[in-house]
Amino acid sequence: MSSSKVSTAMAKMAASVLEHGEDAIRRLFKFYKRRCPPPDFRDVVDFSTNVKNERVVFLELDPAAVSEGEACKAGLRPVKEWKAYGLQGYSGFVFIANPFLPGSQQHWVKQCLKTYPQKPNVCNLDMHMSPSETEDIWRQSAQTLRNKSSGKREPRTLLEKLRWVTLGYHYNWNTKTYSADNYAPFPTDLQSLSTVVASACGFPGFKAEAGILNYYRSDSSLGIHVDESELDHSQPLLSFSFGQTAVFLLGGTKREDPATPMFMHSGDIMVMSESSRLLYHAVPCIVPPPAGAPLPACLTQQPEKDVLEGGVITSVLKEDWELCSRYLQTSRLNMTVRQVLGVSQVFPSIETPGRSEINLKDGYDDVEEEEDLKAKKRKDDECCGLSLT
Ligand code: OGA
Ligand code: MN
Repeated sequence: MSSSKVSTAMAKMAASVLEHGEDAIRRLFKFYKRRCPPPDFRDVVDFSTNVKNERVVFLELDPAAVSEGEACKAGLRPVKEWKAYGLQGYSGFVFIANPFLPGSQQHWVKQCLKTYPQKPNVCNLDMHMSPSETEDIWRQSAQTLRNKSSGKREPRTLLEKLRWVTLGYHYNWNTKTYSADNYAPFPTDLQSLSTVVASACGFPGFKAEAGILNYYRSDSSLGIHVDESELDHSQPLLSFSFGQTAVFLLGGTKREDPATPMFMHSGDIMVMSESSRLLYHAVPCIVPPPAGAPLPACLTQQPEKDVLEGGVITSVLKEDWELCSRYLQTSRLNMTVRQVLGVSQVFPSIETPGRSEINLKDGYDDVEEEEDLKAKKRKDDECCGLSLT
């Protein structure tokens, strides 16, 4: 069979998996993770263009839930201008196509790369390095990255080795729990952004208590999982994406349930709430941008003055943005924000599991890992929350 016939056949398979599937999300994960030949993306829902898809529904958010001033302070357009979508069969799932004001995405990118990896926050590098070695990842990497000539094989900088950062109640990847004593103050800027988004989606009481930031290189993926470690599932999970586009798979409550692939572009926000709060999901791939393509315009626009006045958005120094934009040429950033505890809920006093019960890991489970112990070993060695192939 010619390669085009193969990809047509594979696309048909991908489409059929949507309707009925045996471990459908796993099959789709493998389909989109494949690199040679690259997968056919025709069945991927694109909320930025393809809103005629029969399963996509327009959602009306309450524009009065957040004042225009409040939205602007968080770097967001007025809620009445947001393009919000749902998907039939996924009640509680909200996709907001890039509601950020021009120039404000740069602030979040800079925070993810320069500010949030700093102590007292925790990152994957801390699993194998001392606090003094990971103290200033940005400063340590900046000089090398600025002088790096593309194409030349050089050791990776710490910034390039960064895979995840945890904020607020730090997620413990080994015990899969949060705890009262493993905590750092949650960043106030991200808290403000989260409050606005959650309020607009009908959750005015949302408290941003924990964050997981994911750093994806062009070959990274995030394995199939459910975010169930939070003690209160009545509050939504918020997800913010910046940089390169990813394919996101949204499955059901069981691995066998059908899954829907969708693009997540820079600035897109996803909210998983109510009956969509505990669905299986994964990121099988980062979509390769055309060679030499510039970053999307929404990342390079300059902010209007009012965005920088009195709100949380800061202007990014030219020299800092140069490094951020270089990083984003091949990378994607994702911030997920969670409420861990219900109103007046406290952490239960749990017994520490015995050593043998602890499955030492430093990231999400990954489908590759189940099958390929070598890949797992490599993943552990590299200390990645994301699988790298
Ligand atoms: C997560 C997650 C998805 C993404 O961090 O739990 O599912 O889009 N992230 O990176
Ligand atoms: Mn998740």
